[in-house]
Amino acid sequence: MAADKRGMHGVWASRWTFILAATGSAVGLGNIWKFPYITGENGGGAFVLMYLACILVAGIPVMMAEVLLGRKARLSPINTMSHLSAEYNAPKFFRSIGWLGALAGFFILSFYSVIAGWTLSYTGKMISGDFTGATGEMAGKIFGDLLADPVSLTMYHTIFIILTGVVIARGVNEGLEKTVRVLMPLLFIMLVLLMGYSMTTPGFADGFKFLFSFDASKLTADSVVVALGHSFFTLSLGMGAIMAYGAYMPQQASLGKTVITVGILDTLVALTAGLVIFPIVFSQGLEPGAGPGLMFQTLPVAFGSLPGGAFIGTAFFILVAIAAWSSAISIAEPAVAWAVEKGATRLVATMIVCGAAWALGMLTVLSFNELSDFTFLKGTFFDNLDFLTSNIMLPLGGLLIALFVGWFMKERAVAKEANVQSEMVYNIWRVMLRFVSPLAVLFIFVNGLL
Ligand code: TRP
Repeated sequence: MAADKRGMHGVWASRWTFILAATGSAVGLGNIWKFPYITGENGGGAFVLMYLACILVAGIPVMMAEVLLGRKARLSPINTMSHLSAEYNAPKFFRSIGWLGALAGFFILSFYSVIAGWTLSYTGKMISGDFTGATGEMAGKIFGDLLADPVSLTMYHTIFIILTGVVIARGVNEGLEKTVRVLMPLLFIMLVLLMGYSMTTPGFADGFKFLFSFDASKLTADSVVVALGHSFFTLSLGMGAIMAYGAYMPQQASLGKTVITVGILDTLVALTAGLVIFPIVFSQGLEPGAGPGLMFQTLPVAFGSLPGGAFIGTAFFILVAIAAWSSAISIAEPAVAWAVEKGATRLVATMIVCGAAWALGMLTVLSFNELSDFTFLKGTFFDNLDFLTSNIMLPLGGLLIALFVGWFMKERAVAKEANVQSEMVYNIWRVMLRFVSPLAVLFIFVNGLL
């Protein structure tokens, strides 16, 4: 009976479909837009190393735990957590994993959609050949003009959220699977080709050194918090997205191999994106710490100088938009799945979640123009929302998930559900989840936030 256990939302066709969907969720703006720009802001190699360490120590173990929870209960994260906390007599606050997650998802979707809108706008700019022969300076100006225009930003934000809603409303099998199957591999091939280009630029050696040379003096407590937060963000962890996808995972698939595959693919895409972007930064005399505009000021220069660049550039931004699309879907899924369990239709649930995220997203739109001078704590409204979600809510969610699976679920149930073939892998995971991941998260938190 256990073999065909499935929830009300459907089941992925196979383990590979789960890997594709989870990779589709993990690979997104986080890899291509955010990873390079925060690496630039945090000084390069030392930050990259911290990020890789966080993926290993916290990301992969927590990801296995999230998938496990989802698959065990086969419900939305909110109901998964309330069922399982009751089943294992865990303290009530573990239920907050689900609620905190849905809230974080709503916050993240609101700004994610705005940034994804930029990629749509750039698709248009590429088609019309705006960047042919452009220098870094010209690309910077074009980007600045886009940010200064709240009407365009709103339009692209609106288009993106509608696209997201359409796929979510169609449900797990029909909507989510088909989109990612073909397009993810294409994006990766495109990045590798672009890396071929960046290797020919004069800044390649500098770019490479920037990414991979370790200089401990560049590491601050703050940048370690950012590295930890990003390791959760990039793997879609800490808010239930991967838990929701785990709920649709076939029963017999092994957790370890599946999750490690997703982790490796995600990391490869991020590092490749870095190897494309930083050589261009140094070749063009741009600033690595340019912030959220980094990708939009560098890649168009590459396309502008390549034969057929307008065409390649158009295809590239379409693929990035699609990567963002398959991620955005997973950000909204926990809240939508919960509303469906409450009796809403998928369509209504989608409209409410996406509509609310759209409205909140307007504050991010305005953070880049009308409200750019309105700063508090970490900066603009967008900066604060980004910091709060990635660097506080996701690690907190991840910490609670690790503690719940590591300390409150019965070991036998965990071992059975995990279905990890190698005993050594299982044991390492267990120790990581119980001791290493929680302590790492706590330590980084306490150090960084105080
Ligand atoms: N991981 C995606 C990216 O890197 C974004 C994302 C999707 C996400 N689902 C998530 C981030 C859930 C946090 C939580 O672009």
